[in-house]
Formats: sequence, structure tokens, C-alpha cells
Amino acid sequence: MTKPFYITTAIDYVNGQPHLGHAYEKIITDVIARARRSFGQEVFFLTGLDEHGQKVQQVAQADGKTPQAYCDGLAADWQAFAKKLELTNNDFVRTTSTRHKEFVQAILTKLHAAGEFYQKTYEGFYSAREETFLTEKDRRPDGTFDPAYGEVVKLQESNYWFKLKAQQQWLIDYLEANPSFVQPDYRRNEVLGFLKNNELEDLCISRPLARLNWGIPLPFDKDYVTYVWFDALVNYISIPAAHGDKTVLAATPNLSLPAPADQVDLWPADIHVIGKDILKFHAVYWPIMLKAMGLPLPKQILAHGWWQKDGERMSKTTGNVIDPVAVINEWGVDAFRFYVVRELAIGPDGNWTDAGFKARYQAELANGLGNLVNRSLSMLKRYRNGVVPARHDELAPEAAKVVADTQALLEQSDLQGSLQAIWQLVNRANQYVDQTKPFSLAKDPAQAKRLDEVLYNLAESCRVLAVLLWPFIPGTTTKIFGQLGLPGSPEKFAAANWGGLQPGHVIGEPAPLFPRKDV
Ligand code: MSP
Repeated sequence: MTKPFYITTAIDYVNGQPHLGHAYEKIITDVIARARRSFGQEVFFLTGLDEHGQKVQQVAQADGKTPQAYCDGLAADWQAFAKKLELTNNDFVRTTSTRHKEFVQAILTKLHAAGEFYQKTYEGFYSAREETFLTEKDRRPDGTFDPAYGEVVKLQESNYWFKLKAQQQWLIDYLEANPSFVQPDYRRNEVLGFLKNNELEDLCISRPLARLNWGIPLPFDKDYVTYVWFDALVNYISIPAAHGDKTVLAATPNLSLPAPADQVDLWPADIHVIGKDILKFHAVYWPIMLKAMGLPLPKQILAHGWWQKDGERMSKTTGNVIDPVAVINEWGVDAFRFYVVRELAIGPDGNWTDAGFKARYQAELANGLGNLVNRSLSMLKRYRNGVVPARHDELAPEAAKVVADTQALLEQSDLQGSLQAIWQLVNRANQYVDQTKPFSLAKDPAQAKRLDEVLYNLAESCRVLAVLLWPFIPGTTTKIFGQLGLPGSPEKFAAANWGGLQPGHVIGEPAPLFPRKDV
């Protein structure tokens, strides 16, 4: 059996409600997962929550709850959010679950026994917001720390450190030899630049209980909990282990949890989808951790950019946020999924404006795709009682090119490019209606054959579009199939080949897909 395609998202801190940035990352991951499934690959898609650490402990305290009660309450909201986005994740990790905690402890025990950690007292600066130690080098030219670090406090404490210094060169070599390991290229160059121009500091992997108790206890020293990032990154292998991943289980013979009866083959991950802000954790610390554990590296780290709203950083304090749930309730989940993927390529930063969202809804969804499907099927209904005429291939070559382009772009996770390619067919088919004028042909009995040809090309284009668009807007494409009188969802990419609609087939009822709104 071939190894499933294993894809993950970052796991979100549960210190508030999900926002546009979280939604974006989960949606692009879902589109990639669905596209791979539609190609016939088995896929394992993992997402979830990062529940430990000082940030979560602080908000729980402010809310008058224990951290666990606080996380349990919010985890329900986040899981409901994943459903709202129509994510097809195969599992949902919570780092407070036993299966994850026990696994992290097994890893810590193994690395400790292998001499990878040492204890030392550190004096310096600490940012709770970023859960990280800072040094003098992190100060800006004016002597202050970036406001992104939040409050920075000076502290002195004894901790366990993970030896990283000796790891620098092989990682540089690896990044150079494997250009697709970090994508896009400019992010890879960023990591290489960092590694070539800085000496890697050892990584602090503990926090003293006296300062923080909301974490996984270090198995070899009861006075400490595990640094939240060490805990969080391990989710990418703790969940495969819980499913019986043979590679991961072989590397953790000391794991006390019972292994499932059936083995699976997930690790190494094919893609970790993450935001640009956490690139160093994934492209530097995580590979080094994996190497120390004796595990292969993930095949790719795909870093996306950040969304702003109206040109400014989104911030709860200023109220400059997008509530994805409110947008979805008003416009539908597919309008939201479509907009974020179409607007922003995976890589650069993006900017949400309400006007931009409405403009794409109106132009591309309502007037573009929606209008095409509605008028094509309404005319087939009106002029031919909904019965599909004889096959005709006038638009077949153009459709075939779009299908091939879309497949190639999806294989490279170029989702925005895929939508652009698909819209070439939407636009071409709409233009075909305007050029062939089926409403005029219908008035002339001598043009009956030509009208049949046009109606076939239009209905078949709608079917092909439904197949191509399924990973992006699954609900809408299932509706298109329903209106075409076809069963189920257009889940299989192979069905995008021209000629699927059979002559004599009777379509269903046309209905608007994207109601026009007065905006
Ligand atoms: N818990 C860590 C990740 C651990 S992964 C082993 C974390 N959590 S987070 O909630 O702060 O961010 C989760 C993801 O959301 C990150 O990939 C981050 O880049 C992404 N985003 C958070 N805000 C964002 C935007 N404004 N725009 C796009 N993505 C953003 O980091």
C-alpha cells in the first residue's frame, strides 16, 4: 500500500476565538488535502490546538478558570469552527490529551538519556507573548524590543537546554541540497540567511514550575514543565504514533501507551502548512529535534503570509478584526473559502477589505460562475426540457487545457494559480453564451442542431467546472452536480475529462448559487 499523503496545519493557541488568519491557514490546507484525495491519493490531514504555556495560563486566570476548564470550553468552539469551515481533517489534536502528553514524555526521556540536554542558569530577557528568551541582539537600534514581543521581563533562572550548536552545518547543507524543503524560495533563503549569519543558540526546553505550571511535566525533573514549543511541535508525530505509525513507534520504544493493533505509515509528513512568523521553529528547531530522535525530516514546510485588515495588523484591542463566522453566516462558507484562496497566493502578505470581498463575490461568483451555471441549465431546461443533447466537443480542447493546467498547479500547491486557470474556463463559457446567443438560436427552428451543440457544451463545461472546483468550494460544486441531476459530489478529479454528460440524461432544477446582493 502506498503511504498516505500526510499534511498538517500549525496548532493554534487557545487564548481566544479563531480569526481570519487561523481560518486562512486551515482552508488552504483543506484545499490541498481535498485536491490530493480527488487525485485518488489517500490523505491524512491533521489540525488542532496548542493548549499549554504561559499565554493560555494567563488568560485562563483572568477568566477565573483552571487552564484545563478554560481550554475545554474553547476547544469545543474551535472544533465547531473547523466544521463551519468544512475542513476534512482526519484527526484533531489537543496537546492536553493523554496520547500527546505521554508521547512528549517518552521523547524527552529518550533525548535526556542520549545526553542531548544539559542544565544551566540563564540570566536575560523573556517575552511571555512569544514564549521565548531574548538577548541583547534582539533589541532594536533604539534599545527597545519589538512590540510584537509584548511585555519583556528580565529574569534569572535555571533550566534544561537542548544542544543545537553542533547542528548548524548539516542543516545548512540539507537546506541547500533540498530546495523544496522550505517553500516559497524566499522563505528558504530567509532560513539559510539566518543560519549562515548567526551562531545557533541552544534551545531552552523547560520552564520552572515556580513560574509556570501549565505544561507537560519533565519526566526527569519534577520541578519543571516542558517548553510549549517543544511540546507543540511534537504533535506532528505524537498523533501518527497514536494511529500506529511504524516509523515513529520504532523510534520511541519506551512509549508506555499501548500501540494500536493496525499499523499506519504516515511519517514523514508531506507538508507542514504554517505562517511565516513560526518558520524558525519549523525549519530550524523541528528538523534538529527530529534528527536527534532518529526520525526522517518532513518533505516540505510551506509558509504562508499574514493577513491584515484595511492595511493594518489585526488586533483585538483596536477591534480591527475579521470574524470569519460572521462573514460565513452572511455570505456562505464557499464565498469565504473562495475569497481567501483567490485573493492571496501562499507566500506574500494579504489585505482584507470588505469592498474587495464583495467585489470578488459579485464579479467572480455571482456574475461569473453562478450566472454561467444558472443560465446554461435554465436554457437546457427551457429549450430541451432538461434533456442533455448529443455530445459535442467545441469547448473540449479549451476545457482539457484548463484541466491539465489545474492539475499541475494543484500538484504544486499553487491554489491561487489553480483558481485563475479555472476561471479561464468560466470566462470562456460565459463568452461562448454571448457569442453563440442560444436565446436567439431557440427562436429559429432551422438552428435546432446548433442549439443542441451549444447547450451540450455549456452543460458539460458546468460539470467539468464542478469537478475542478470541488476542493475549493465543495458545497457549491455538490449543488451544481445536483442541478445537473448527477448523484453525490464531484470528488474525483478523473471525472473532469470531457464527455461525462450522457445524451438523454435529464438534469435537475436550476437555482441561483450565489444570490446577488445589493452592495
Ligand atoms: N501555537 C503556535 C503554533 C504551534 S505549531 C506546532 C502558534 N499559534 S497561533 O495561534 O499564534 O498561530 C497559529 C497559526 O495561525 C500560525 O501559523 C500563524 O502564522 C497563523 N496566523 C496567526 N495570525 C495570522 C494572520 N493575521 N494571518 C495569517 N496567518 C496568521 O503560533
